[in-house]
Amino acid sequence: MTSTQTIRATAPTASAGGNPVHFYDLHPTPADMRAEVLAGLALPQKRIAPKFFYDAAGSRLFDAICNLPEYYPTRTEIDILRTHGAAMAARLGREALLIELGSGSSLKIQVLLEALRPAVYMPVDISRAHLLDSAGRLAGDFPGLAVHAVCADYSVPFVLPVEDHEHPRVAFFPGSSVGNFEPADAERFLRRVGALLGPGGRLLIGVDLRKDLALLEAAYNDAAGVTAAFNLNLLTRFNRELGADFDLAGFRHQAFYNQTEGRIEMHLLSSRPQQVQIGDARFAFREGESIHTECSYKYSIPGFHALARRAGFLPEAVWTDPVPLFSVHCLVYRPDAPSGRDAG
Ligand code: AVI
Repeated sequence: MTSTQTIRATAPTASAGGNPVHFYDLHPTPADMRAEVLAGLALPQKRIAPKFFYDAAGSRLFDAICNLPEYYPTRTEIDILRTHGAAMAARLGREALLIELGSGSSLKIQVLLEALRPAVYMPVDISRAHLLDSAGRLAGDFPGLAVHAVCADYSVPFVLPVEDHEHPRVAFFPGSSVGNFEPADAERFLRRVGALLGPGGRLLIGVDLRKDLALLEAAYNDAAGVTAAFNLNLLTRFNRELGADFDLAGFRHQAFYNQTEGRIEMHLLSSRPQQVQIGDARFAFREGESIHTECSYKYSIPGFHALARRAGFLPEAVWTDPVPLFSVHCLVYRPDAPSGRDAG
C-alpha cells in the first residue's frame, strides 16, 4: 500500500547570493527505510529499491558515474539539451513552474533553465544534502528565479507544497530514471506526474535507448570501479543507518544486460555462505546468492511512446543524438484523449 507523503518540517529559507531557497522536507524516516529493507531481504530473490543508493556518499558516487567515459547517458543527454534547447523551450513555453524530479546533474538543469527561463523552479530529490547544495547554487546563478526545493521520495505520491495556479506546469525527469521503475510502476508513476501537472501540462523526459550489448554493459561495469563502489555503498549505508553487520568484503558488484527483459540488472553477489544481522532479523546468504539492487530498462522510441500513452500522455516531440544512444521526449498530459495518435 502506498500513502501520500506529508510535509514533516519546513526549514527556514537558506540564502544564496540574496535569492532565497524555500525548503520543504518530506524525507522518509529511518523507520520507513528499515521496514522496506527488511521486507526486501526476506523475498526469495532478495531485493533493495535503488532509491536507497542516494545518501550523501551515494549521491557523490553517482555524480562521479555521470562523468565516467563509459557512462554515455549523461553527456549525451546534455548534448541533446544544448542542441535542441530552443526547440524544447518553444514547446514547453516560458515563465512556467518547472518541477524537476530527481535533481540529478546540475549541468542539465542549468542548460534547461537557460533555455526555458521559468518563473518558479521546484527540484524534488530524496538526497537532502545534494538537493540543498544544488538548489543553493542555482538560486545564486538565476537571481530572478523563485526556488522551492522539496526533499521527497518521488516514487511515492506527494502533493506539491506550493499553491501556484499562475504559471503553466512543466515537469523535467532527466537521466532515464524512468528506466529504474518496472514498466507497470513507470506507468503508474507517469500517471501521478500527469496528475501533478494537470491536463495540458507537459513533461520533458530523458529515456535511454536499446543498443549494442557491449556498450550497455560497459556503462555499468566501468574500469575505475565507481559503479561497483556505488552499488556496495548501499551496504555501508545499512551498516551505519540500520545497525546492520554486512561484511563488504563478502559481496561484489555484478551488472549485466537481460535481453529478454530489455534491462540492465545490478546485483550484489555474496562471495561465500554468510549471515547478516539487522536488529532482530537475520538473513542467510548462499555462495553466489544476490541482492538485486537496480533495474535500468532501456526502451525503443515506439516502446516508450506506448508506455507514455498508457499513462495518459501524448507524444509531441522527440530529440536524439545522431547515433542514437539516448532520447529526450516532450509529452503532453491528455488523460481523456483517445490514445494511439501523437499530439499535433
Ligand atoms: C539514475 N539512473 C537512471 C542510473 C541508471 O543508469 O539507471 C543509475 C545508475 N546505476 C548505475 N549507474 C547509474
